Amino acid sequence: MTTVRLNSADPVSVDTDALIVGFRPGQNGPRLTGAESLDAAFGGNLAASLSSVGFSGNPGELAKLPTFGAIAAPVLVAVGLGDSPDLESLRRAAGAAVRSLAGTGRAALALPADDAAQAEAVALGALLGAYGFARYRTGEDQKAPVSEITVLSGQSDSVAERAGVLAESVALVRDLVNTPPSDLWPAKFAEIAEQEGAKTGLTVEVLDEKQLKDGGYGGLIGVGQGSVNPPRLVRVSYNHPDAAKTLAFVGKGITFDSGGLSLKPSASMDWMKSDMGGAGAVLGALIGIARLSLPVNVVGYLCLAENLPSGTAQRPSDVIHSYSGKTVEVLDTDAEGRLVLMDGIARAAEDSPDLIVDIATLTGAQIVALGWRTSGVMSNNDAVRELVVEAATAAGEGAWGMPLPEELRKGLDSPVADIANLHPERFGGMLTAAIFLKEFVPDGVRWAHIDMAGPAFNKGEPYGYTPKGGTGAITRTLIGLAERHASI
Ligand code: BES
Ligand code: MN
Ligand code: ZN
Repeated sequence: MTTVRLNSADPVSVDTDALIVGFRPGQNGPRLTGAESLDAAFGGNLAASLSSVGFSGNPGELAKLPTFGAIAAPVLVAVGLGDSPDLESLRRAAGAAVRSLAGTGRAALALPADDAAQAEAVALGALLGAYGFARYRTGEDQKAPVSEITVLSGQSDSVAERAGVLAESVALVRDLVNTPPSDLWPAKFAEIAEQEGAKTGLTVEVLDEKQLKDGGYGGLIGVGQGSVNPPRLVRVSYNHPDAAKTLAFVGKGITFDSGGLSLKPSASMDWMKSDMGGAGAVLGALIGIARLSLPVNVVGYLCLAENLPSGTAQRPSDVIHSYSGKTVEVLDTDAEGRLVLMDGIARAAEDSPDLIVDIATLTGAQIVALGWRTSGVMSNNDAVRELVVEAATAAGEGAWGMPLPEELRKGLDSPVADIANLHPERFGGMLTAAIFLKEFVPDGVRWAHIDMAGPAFNKGEPYGYTPKGGTGAITRTLIGLAERHASI
């Protein structure tokens, strides 16, 4: 576990294994930003030396130099901040620099941290960049994450505490996503929710397959019935005595999505352990919200099932009875996320929340429309959609508002049931999935849907504070939404 603390030491003399410093691009090479005392320590030659190795201070740039005794730290890491660094530039620069130091024990960051928001951004980016997942590696970990982070700032230590809570919430979600499905099935996920929830004083209730069947949760039962690992619905709740608002978060938790009988090709399947990222984000956010004692009530639902083909699996053309009472014709068993979410959303509405937000790795169409890093946000209320996008943007998580065009609803008509789970038209697939979900939101209830199929899992190389594999996407957005609904 990596620790972070704040310290107002001079960057020249701070006792650490590596010092991280920020630069902006300038007319005559990189310009030191913060940590001005370093310039004299290097005899005024630092910027010119960095220039000579091709470093200019643009975002994403990183250069490592030995310091030859000019300062106390043996290694200097120069990181590019870009022309007008905002909080996300600081998080990314801190994250990339700390990540590059894996295998080094301690790091100190002398990035701009003049106010609480900046100091928190530096601490948070550094902690998120210090993530590693070595649970399945044998032998010594040569590249263990930096274990001690010092942020050089005069701000109060509460900043570091908050960053620590946010980073630990995200790390839990990344761990869950990275865990192979052989070690994370619905009942196991539910157990982890119980354990982690108990540590933070959350109330956790688990419905097993019998209770789901008796309770009429046809979506969760239908999706889970092909697997020997039966489905679960987990309700995690947090209450604050001063709360005026109640939020409901509903997460898609498919611990593995093979597609079911509508089987996926192998190339689309090998990363479907990430299909529980929505439920992960809900659990991580609730833990973060509880640890921050935010004055708001939050109830989270984890809709957990494993989507596998077998002799007991649901078939294309089966009709299921959802928790809401509506019947659904299952035309494609690979459109399973909406089937577990329809039950979760209908159940969440019983808590009379002021807002329901569902979070799901729902469609490949999200990736087609917005790419790997930008989630789609849809809502039955324009102001709610804008609020969710604003919360995500403030957290540095890419998100963009998308419409729910009325004309797409007709394609979901079924000749036998109230609605079908597949639209005959492939185009606009992210929107038709959302329009399906909207049918299960009772009239007058404010609801938003976040499709994060791409952002939940980084198949490419690490960047900024984002590692390869599970990203923990949208966890911080949900915590931000809770903050925006907190009283006082
Ligand atoms: N879990 C997938 C969506 C997904 C795709 C997540 C890529 C992450 C990366 C979802 O259950 C699914 O299979 N969706 C289908 C829906 C279609 C059958 C209407 C899809 O997007 O192809
Ligand atoms: Mn699927
Ligand atoms: Zn899925």
